[in-house]
Amino acid sequence: MTGDITFTMIKPTAVAKGYTGKIIDQIIAGGFKIKAMKYTRLTKQEAEKFYAVHKERPFYDSLTTFMSSGPIFAAILEKDNAVQAYRDFIGATNPADAVEGSIRKLYGTDLQANAVHGSDSDENAQIESNFFFSERERY
Ligand code: RTP
Ligand code: MG
Repeated sequence: MTGDITFTMIKPTAVAKGYTGKIIDQIIAGGFKIKAMKYTRLTKQEAEKFYAVHKERPFYDSLTTFMSSGPIFAAILEKDNAVQAYRDFIGATNPADAVEGSIRKLYGTDLQANAVHGSDSDENAQIESNFFFSERERY
């Protein structure tokens, strides 16, 4: 159901630092079910398309360069009220402001390299999931 999924990525810095396993463990322990997952890498053009909503923002070029700088893990997660539940769970955008023990607090480096992405609406959760996954890749 629409409101029950969200989309996440483990960002390049967190993957490179070897935090993937710990982050996935924390996501599952938090009650999120993994519906789909893949290890992949965005090209700069793909990152620009994914983050098109931020095109006018001053950090757009830096963000899309960063998100295409190395491999990521992409996943679809399921839980009641998944979008808001996951945003609450991962902590504030800036790891410095994120709640103690949250994924962004534990594994984020700075405002840009904040460990994980989380969809900001049910509509974007669908769009972002469809960006990475076919129906055949979801269980
Ligand atoms: P996300 O989309 O990654 O889940 O993060 P968010 O909703 O909390 O934040 P958003 O405003 O959508 O920003 C997307 C990503 O851009 C980077 N950012 N940099 N330099 C800056 O001022 C700045 N602001 C945001 C972060 O990596 C953020 O997650
Ligand atoms: Mg966002």
